[in-house]
Amino acid sequence: MKEYKLAIVGATGLVGRSFIKILEERKLPIKEYSLFASKKSAGKIINILGKNCVVKELTENSFDEGFDFALFSAGGDTAKKYAPIASSKNCIVIDNSSAFRMENDVPLVVPEVNFDDVKNHKGIIANPNCSTIQAMLPLKALDNKYVIKRVIYSTYQAVSGAGRYGLEDLENIDNSKPLKKFPHPIYNNCLPHIDVFMNNGYTKEEMKMINETRKILHKPQLSITATTVRVPVTNSHSESINVEFEKSFEVDDLFNTLKSFPNIVLIDEPKSNLYPLAINATGHDEVFVGRVRRDESVFSGVNLWVVADNIRKGAATNAVQIVEGLIKQGLK
Ligand code: A2P
Repeated sequence: MKEYKLAIVGATGLVGRSFIKILEERKLPIKEYSLFASKKSAGKIINILGKNCVVKELTENSFDEGFDFALFSAGGDTAKKYAPIASSKNCIVIDNSSAFRMENDVPLVVPEVNFDDVKNHKGIIANPNCSTIQAMLPLKALDNKYVIKRVIYSTYQAVSGAGRYGLEDLENIDNSKPLKKFPHPIYNNCLPHIDVFMNNGYTKEEMKMINETRKILHKPQLSITATTVRVPVTNSHSESINVEFEKSFEVDDLFNTLKSFPNIVLIDEPKSNLYPLAINATGHDEVFVGRVRRDESVFSGVNLWVVADNIRKGAATNAVQIVEGLIKQGLK
């Protein structure tokens, strides 16, 4: 069996470390790993599958040694500069930043939903935004059956999505240190503000959810609105999703449709207080769906509560699944 060489860019970050963990768990046929980060991390040692690996500074020559794949999670600016260099050297880049997501020749992929889109890649494949990824599984399942007409997202997003500095701000409970990531304290607070504000009054995070959903579901005209909120939760994003359909549905059939979709776990026993929770989703790769109930205010609509580990399925696991799919289908 062919064995591959893989680079991780941003290996010292939250998602970067998760790439390593998930690659170890899923046992891909990779014979050699190389880890890259900024200059300040050069020389750090990270253990991967029992071997100590020295973190190297990312430079323009980093990809000269020839990699099959590079997983990037080092922010948009780093991706814009280095992903084209990597892909020019025949390395397939899976980038976790928003730098390339909306480019026409860059597939934006959630493997359970639109894996076939990878076939059009030109060297760079984008990993969607964390809050978009987890919404895509139930939305695709329901769109296949009832045809989605409109979506309203309201998110409750964990601070781990803001990287290490976000977590440090949450730990700063007495406000004794200057904030590193957020414009206001996140401890004991909710911030209706993720990423920067755009001219239309939405945040960039909200526009990412709207535009990425349309691209992944191949529905460029879909009516969607979103409010994204950072909450004082360490890890795992929760989302309230209201969906309207073209077609009518029976609730039992809708439950079965969700349950039979790959990597959705339905937890919906309100009488026993059972529904998806951030603390239970953390450490898992599935998307947890519950509080499923008819929206009685419209002809055909449903409310869902959708929870997933934003660092795993919302970032690292999704990217590793893309690599796995490429290998399994002989696309590299
Ligand atoms: P470093 O640790 O050396 O700063 P997080 O999102 O958790 O903050 O992690 C961001 C990741 O991206 C880290 O691994 C960080 O490395 C890396 N990174 C940031 N800027 C650069 C850069 N200019 N070149 C390479 N890696 C970078």
